[in-house]
Amino acid sequence: MTRLLACIATGFLTCFAAVGPARSEYPDRPITMIVPFAAGGPTDTVARIVGEQMGKTLGQAVVVENVSGAGGTTGITRGAQSKPDGYTIMMGHMGTHGAAPALYPTLKYDPTKDFAPVGLVAGTAILIIAKKDFPATNLKEFVAYLKKNPDKVNEAHAGVGSVSFTTCTMLQSILGTKTARVAYRGTGPSLNDLVAGQVDFGCDQIVNVVSQVQAGTIKAFAVASPQRSAVLKDVPTTKEAGLPEFQVSAWNAVFAPKDTPKDVMAKLNGALVKALDDGATRTRLLELGSIIPDRAGRSPEALQALVEKEVARWTPILKAAGATVN
Ligand code: MLT
Repeated sequence: MTRLLACIATGFLTCFAAVGPARSEYPDRPITMIVPFAAGGPTDTVARIVGEQMGKTLGQAVVVENVSGAGGTTGITRGAQSKPDGYTIMMGHMGTHGAAPALYPTLKYDPTKDFAPVGLVAGTAILIIAKKDFPATNLKEFVAYLKKNPDKVNEAHAGVGSVSFTTCTMLQSILGTKTARVAYRGTGPSLNDLVAGQVDFGCDQIVNVVSQVQAGTIKAFAVASPQRSAVLKDVPTTKEAGLPEFQVSAWNAVFAPKDTPKDVMAKLNGALVKALDDGATRTRLLELGSIIPDRAGRSPEALQALVEKEVARWTPILKAAGATVN
């Protein structure tokens, strides 16, 4: 109040000089959301759904930019190093912000320190999937075939550090198998090859595969969650199918670079919270099998705690599986 009175007394020009040019109201131009995988995959799909709705609340378009490579770490590195002004955010996930440190000893970011967490977007179940004519009709037969013919099958994933790589590394470590592994720039492209029968199997997020499984263009042997998914009621859990030890799921979340101003972060989190309450947005995410976090689960603090827990969880699993990139 005293500053205001002083300003009035000495003339507003003095005040302008004293406090500097006012920052225009954030956001005053479109916001870039980096998706660290190719278009058409689960990360891209979730980002476009939630980004579109966030943009409506923020009053500026949220524009997805696909920056793929190195299992998502290329795009996330770019995001982490971008200007912390709220105009570059990123969609990360359990791979880029959980598994990556164990897989990349020289990773150029620390998921627990180099970001301002905006909030969790969706939990996603993991399915063991295969091409339509894979010679197995259930998980038991799939496992038997993999163990008997490891040199005849290849697994598709989205690069070291991706969710698909991380979860299938865990699967193959449990099974004691080592098949050929084919890296793609995302599980959008790898799913196309699975449908075409160019690759044999994979581990992918439900949001990516639900329509192909429903259409019968690929097989899903099991979902690695305690319960079946409401959108794929006929797909058994790994426990029901005889592989209870394979329990894993993924998540997608929005991050900004560290040191992004608090008022900007509050607007970004507010827009995310509102997007996840929007009916049409919820319907699109739920139809894809997403699990939408409650209000408490959407806070920046909850996301920070999740990242710290996931990094601690995945590091020993992946090191034991010898999955580190040299
Ligand atoms: C992953 O495997 O990390 C993602 O499913 C890749 C993607 O979103 O394309």
